[in-house]
Amino acid sequence: MAKIFITRRLPEEGIKLLKEHDLEIYEGDAPPTKEEIIAGVKGKDALICLLTDKIDAEIMDSSPNLKIIANYAVGIDNIEIEEATKRGIIVTNTPGVLTETVADLTWALLMAIARRIVEGDNFMRQKKFKGWAPLLMLGADIYGKTLGIIGAGRIGRAVARRAQGFNMKILYYSRRRNEEMERYNAKFVDLHTLLKESDFVSLHIPLTKETYHLIGEKELKLMKPTAYLINTARGKCIDEKALIKALKNKWIAGAALDVFENEPSISDELVELENVVLTPHIGSASYETRSKMAEMVAKNVLMALEGKLPPNCVNPEAWRKSERNK
Ligand code: NAP
Ligand code: GLV
Ligand code: GLV
Repeated sequence: MAKIFITRRLPEEGIKLLKEHDLEIYEGDAPPTKEEIIAGVKGKDALICLLTDKIDAEIMDSSPNLKIIANYAVGIDNIEIEEATKRGIIVTNTPGVLTETVADLTWALLMAIARRIVEGDNFMRQKKFKGWAPLLMLGADIYGKTLGIIGAGRIGRAVARRAQGFNMKILYYSRRRNEEMERYNAKFVDLHTLLKESDFVSLHIPLTKETYHLIGEKELKLMKPTAYLINTARGKCIDEKALIKALKNKWIAGAALDVFENEPSISDELVELENVVLTPHIGSASYETRSKMAEMVAKNVLMALEGKLPPNCVNPEAWRKSERNK
């Protein structure tokens, strides 16, 4: 029986797979503090954490038995991977199972900002609707427009696939060309061209040193004044101050955001703007997907506890190291 610390209650589908083991679950509604994580992980063999938990060297050192850090997310920017690898601690994530769900939300945001769905809903609730009118709440067409996808990974490609039905022209920028993208007639371009030519720009890169503030003032100024920016990747990929400036000065038409630079705190200036749609980091938040993520996280932990290489290990060197140390 292994000892496992879980930093939040997860869907039952995952918990029940771990029932043979000794589980300690943090029951708070808000993320645990660093001190609470350190206290929880002490003496544990496995840590299951969320993207809101920053897992650093100090936390890793507080449990010498720790074999695996299993993130309940595909993004792993919250974990100091190199530090984990150095210590022979396996890190896993939950890729694939959430791809379609996040692509769906990306499209929901794209359509909501272009067709002013949230503004329209507020307008109705405020009983402002006086009847159909030729100039009431005009927005932008989506069908036939140009979609710029930054990051041709799993989610970026799933977003492109949906664009087929809207007869969109697709441009993409990524570290390398991608065959599936090219099957959708997506054109591989540099970032400059993508920003200049797209009517919708959607971010699907991970947060890394290279993608931090990938979109700043210079990039926003390249975009069309009629274009929209959609971000379901990570808040820190965009310089949020520059984005607010762009939205206020109408350098771009609007933005739809699921992630924020300093979430969960959100800038007052952003909240006061009309040309934005904001959601609370719910990209993967469907019942089905959150259950699948919980199963995946549990399976990764079970494999690591058996000394096997988990299917979603992001640092296989750590596993090889731990095998040698046996
Ligand atoms: P993925 O399959 O790894 O795709 C990421 C893509 O970005 C890859 O094509 C990668 O290129 C490319 N890329 C990486 N660094 C780059 C750089 N510096 N410049 C240009 N392209 C770069 O990941 P995914 O499963 O699609 O997930 C993408 C991200 O979405 C996650 O990391 C996470 O942060 C975010 N996410 C958010 C939510 C939400 O709730 N809003 C949910 C899930 C995921 P290579 O192929 O060369 O590596
Ligand atoms: C969510 O943001 C994830 O990375 O899974
Ligand atoms: C609008 O409702 C129309 O019939 O054109």
